[in-house]
Amino acid sequence: AEGDPAAGEKAFKKCTACHAVGVNAKNKVGPELNGIVGRKVASIEGFKYSPAMVEFGAGDKAWDAETIDAYLADPKSFIPKNKMAFAGLKKAEERADVIAYLNQFNED
Ligand code: HEM
Repeated sequence: AEGDPAAGEKAFKKCTACHAVGVNAKNKVGPELNGIVGRKVASIEGFKYSPAMVEFGAGDKAWDAETIDAYLADPKSFIPKNKMAFAGLKKAEERADVIAYLNQFNED
């Protein structure tokens, strides 16, 4: 189902301790997430990704709505040993909303 970006903006507060989006977004504990839908996995210069995330991105893999959904549903199971210390979003609707929100920060 299509997510609701306004609801996603609220749900994204669960992410903002570690991630920023928008103009002048900087890396925090996690990488900035501008353009993440379609962005190459582990591609932010100067951010120190885990070996597990680098390996997940092998072969120029890019994030899409499906892979972001699977990662957020259960980060540790989807990419074992990745270093995002976050339990995930259990509700599919909340994940769809966050992805719809993040999709607003895609320039191209
Ligand atoms: C990585 C999304 C919550 C810390 C990522 C990536 C995405 C993402 C898409 C991959 C980025 C890339 O490939 O460049 C989210 C969303 C969150 C969330 C949507 C909330 C629903 C958090 C929280 C923390 C965190 C709360 C800190 C406690 C990290 C870290 C990485 C990461 C450290 C890099 C993982 C690695 O290199 O293994 N996140 N995140 N994230 N996130 Fe999150």
